[in-house]
Amino acid sequence: MTPPVTPAVTPAALARLHAAVFVRPRPWSAAEFAALLAAPSTILASAPEGFALGRVAAGEAELLTLAVAARARRQGLGRRLLAACEAAAASRGARRLVLEVAADNLAARALYAAAGYGEAGRRRGYYVARAGLAAADAIVLAKSLEAPGAAPAADPESC
Ligand SMILES: CC(C)(COP(=O)(O)OP(=O)(O)OC[C@H]1O[C@@H](n2cnc3c(N)ncnc32)[C@H](O)[C@@H]1OP(=O)(O)O)[C@@H](O)C(=O)NCCC(=O)NCCS
Repeated sequence: MTPPVTPAVTPAALARLHAAVFVRPRPWSAAEFAALLAAPSTILASAPEGFALGRVAAGEAELLTLAVAARARRQGLGRRLLAACEAAAASRGARRLVLEVAADNLAARALYAAAGYGEAGRRRGYYVARAGLAAADAIVLAKSLEAPGAAPAADPESC
């Protein structure tokens, strides 16, 4: 299936969807999304009911946020948005994608596990108690974007 990538989405639409989906972290404003979209390092995959946004730097991508409207969940959209973000990151030279997820976010953790992400670290108490949610650790997850068996990219820093 073709990944849902629609870069023409507006900052205001992203802010509305983000606010509807997230309590933790706090909702991001349209101005914050506009600044992110203006940055050349930003990657975005979007559909009318969801989006994934990340950035690429120095051969590594970071997923900053992934949101699917409640009414559109469990239909494979989150998985497709994540795959589209991975493809966009790989096409920009990223060899790995990293992200943080709250330890108590079982839906997202199940999605990332099913997509092949493994635990790379943990930040104790990273998410502070907010809006009725208890404090939670952040789990750092990572996935290689390199095809198995592919030759490693030349690294000028390595010895
Ligand atoms: C996490 C989120 C993006 C998943 O989006 P989604 O479109 O419902 O996910 P998908 O339908 O693509 O699910 C893919 C797989 O993830 C897992 N999964 C998704 N939601 C799940 C849930 N509530 N419980 C258990 N597993 C779940 C399943 O393995 C699922 O495959 P299956 O439906 O074939 O069993 C969505 O729940 C969401 O927006 N949550 C709030 C925001 C958030 O937590 N974002 C992540 C921040 S790190």
